[in-house]
Amino acid sequence: MADPKPVTTLKLRKMKEEGTPIVMVTAYDYPSAALADEAGVDMILVGDSLGNVVLGYDSTIPVTLDDMIYHSRAVNRAVKRPFVVTDLPFMTYHGSVDRALGHVARIMQEGGSKGVKLEGGREIAATVQAIVQAGVPVIGHVGLTPQSVHALGGYRVQGKSDAQILKLKEDVQALEQAGATAIVLELVTAEIAAEISRGLSIPTIGIGSGNGCDGQVLVFHDVLQYEAAPAAKRFVKAYANIGRDIREALTAYADEVRSRQFPAPEHAFHAVKPQEQNRTETVPAKDDSAAQSEEPGVLYGAGRPSSN
Ligand code: KIV
Repeated sequence: MADPKPVTTLKLRKMKEEGTPIVMVTAYDYPSAALADEAGVDMILVGDSLGNVVLGYDSTIPVTLDDMIYHSRAVNRAVKRPFVVTDLPFMTYHGSVDRALGHVARIMQEGGSKGVKLEGGREIAATVQAIVQAGVPVIGHVGLTPQSVHALGGYRVQGKSDAQILKLKEDVQALEQAGATAIVLELVTAEIAAEISRGLSIPTIGIGSGNGCDGQVLVFHDVLQYEAAPAAKRFVKAYANIGRDIREALTAYADEVRSRQFPAPEHAFHAVKPQEQNRTETVPAKDDSAAQSEEPGVLYGAGRPSSN
């Protein structure tokens, strides 16, 4: 059972020291974030992967700062315990440190997240340091950095050649020295990721980087196979098949609407109580007080729990 207190940067550092794995998952909307919180994850990333899995782009490059803020707000309305971090999208932390700081301010003030994540190593260390000095926790991200997909020549495993290994080690050192809270290692060979993790005092969070990292992150839609046609990925383990379940449920709904099985009498509001109606009309078989209530109570989902 996870400690119910909100997760802080100090807690993340303590988890590293104690060898307690950090659980991180992405989320992009209110119900997903609420369920992730209930499941006890430690960190939620409002990742720019939302470009691929929610907005239908073929990379993260078209994602805008406004997209990230919009989704961060929905996530933060739901979350009580996990530490929520939002990705700074493509080219929003380049140009000048002041420009980056302005964008970080918007994510914190409008999006409500507790920190930001930036892709890159030594080349962005000065920006990371300025953000940290402004009081904002930063998560680094090295290895496969999807915003640089074209420069990297595609989505490829990193840390295979000596030059790549040296660069990775220099990058994580620079991020740690700049004050990063943690570093995501994406698609780094397992041996190098483990070695990097042992050599840092801040936690590493791996994705496709083996079991030697201090924590793991996966994309929500990958964990659940929440897609029309999920792609097999070696580094992902799917714990459900929500895409298939949704398709089956919507097909059943469509069939029942077309055959007039739905809505049944218990799904409608009646001027005359069902038991007083003509006996030839079907009445609800089970005692389902919510379904039989003559007032809907809430519209559209469960609604956000009231704070009073
Ligand atoms: O955008 C994202 O979801 C990410 C994770 C894959 C680490 O950066």
